[in-house]
Amino acid sequence: KQEGRPLRQRQRLLVVANRLPVSAVRRGEDSWSLDVSAGGLVSALLGVKEFEAKWIGWAGVNVPDEIGQKALTKALAEKRCIPVFLDEEIVHQYYNGYCNNILWPLFHYLGLPQEDRLATTRSFQSQFAAYKKANQMFADVVNEHYKEGDVVWCHDYHLMFLPKCLKDYNSKMKVGWFLHTPFPSSEIHRTLPSRSELLRSVLAADLVGFHTYDYARHFVSACTRILGLEGTPEGVEDQGRLTRVAAFPIGIDSERFIRALEVPQVQEHIRELKERFAGRKVMLGVDRLDMIKGIPQKILAFEKFLEENPSWRDKVVLLQIAVPTRTDVPEYQKLTSQVHEIVGRINGRFGTLTAVPIHHLDRSLDFHALCALYAVTDVALVTSLRDGMNLVSYEFVACQDAKKGVLILSEFAGAAQSLGAGAILVNPWNITEVANSIAQALNMASEEREKRHKHNFIHVTTHTAQEWAETFVSELNDTVVEAQIRTRE
Ligand code: G6P
Repeated sequence: KQEGRPLRQRQRLLVVANRLPVSAVRRGEDSWSLDVSAGGLVSALLGVKEFEAKWIGWAGVNVPDEIGQKALTKALAEKRCIPVFLDEEIVHQYYNGYCNNILWPLFHYLGLPQEDRLATTRSFQSQFAAYKKANQMFADVVNEHYKEGDVVWCHDYHLMFLPKCLKDYNSKMKVGWFLHTPFPSSEIHRTLPSRSELLRSVLAADLVGFHTYDYARHFVSACTRILGLEGTPEGVEDQGRLTRVAAFPIGIDSERFIRALEVPQVQEHIRELKERFAGRKVMLGVDRLDMIKGIPQKILAFEKFLEENPSWRDKVVLLQIAVPTRTDVPEYQKLTSQVHEIVGRINGRFGTLTAVPIHHLDRSLDFHALCALYAVTDVALVTSLRDGMNLVSYEFVACQDAKKGVLILSEFAGAAQSLGAGAILVNPWNITEVANSIAQALNMASEEREKRHKHNFIHVTTHTAQEWAETFVSELNDTVVEAQIRTRE
């Protein structure tokens, strides 16, 4: 982990991500309402006073007409956001297709799509073409707004082609790229037909960052094994040019969560929840309804726990918040029905006239409701099959200083490397192990809960999102300076 270094005054940043931190709803021909989302990345960058950040990203809506585009561009400018307009066909091929049906499952070790290989090969090619085209469209917008001295920070698997497009425009542009998902073993990455082109495009960046040291190591070995380049402790070298590769584990704006617990509305909500679930232990899952989150496996483990521990049946409830996501992708539609089927079966099996063991909600909660829920939880279940970091585990810990509940955490989430000592680590594929951990968590003595919580709380409140952003950007500045020094030599 790098130490944060002092930044220059008000570093101008162009943050490029597939999604803007704002969702737009059209109200009329030339009017829009905007809802600013306060996700991890947004809070990270807003929390750093030294940054003057502008966001470039897809507005998340189809705006085919010029009047609508102009009005939205104007409205977004007030939020320091700049839209990239993608038409429906591109969104289908680039976002639903290449990003979410190919790269996302592959990077989470779920492999490439299996069905009808020929059709997949054909659609693979058109989806990759759309991916490159979309990345070029992002690059055009960045180039239009770039001023000398700006640092460009590209985010995530949607934009792996972007560093190359940007350097083709201007080789002096400082470009960083950060991956929010795992980077898989090189043996997985090498199955991707466009494996080399994507690696080379990412290597055009000056700094490439990952959540964990393992992901960085997988990336470097993919470059050495697939491209035949030289991996060094600093990164990857290609004909004398070094691309720095390092781990920058993200965090959350922990203060925001801790402060929220003081808000009267949240305290009232906490009281209501306590009353509603009096006499029962509360277990909580909060996930996007995504196959990588291991929701069916988690629910089956809960069923096994109920089966084997009859005395707990009317004393525990599992609240599963499953936030709908990427609903146009068929795999996600299948998952929704699968989860509903399992929840229905278990509630039918163990429910009574007055209570059911699982409350499953297909929706998101607002920030304050979520904080209240975290605060009343006895055991949080984060059992992703793979996850870049998983900040739900961090948010839970931040809200637990009063209760000191237990975190059950997948060993395949990046967070296992930072919260592993405080959590109960599990292999989410091993349903018996998860069921046993639920019993262990519910029966854990208060001294042990306190000790485990303390470890995690210190981590979550020290390694914050702000620290993460500062470290990445200052390292990016240094990297470019180093590159210039090397050229001068
Ligand atoms: C993951 C990705 C993000 C993405 C988010 C929500 O966390 O790493 O880049 O924004 O999922 O997914 P969505 O497809 O709705 O943007």
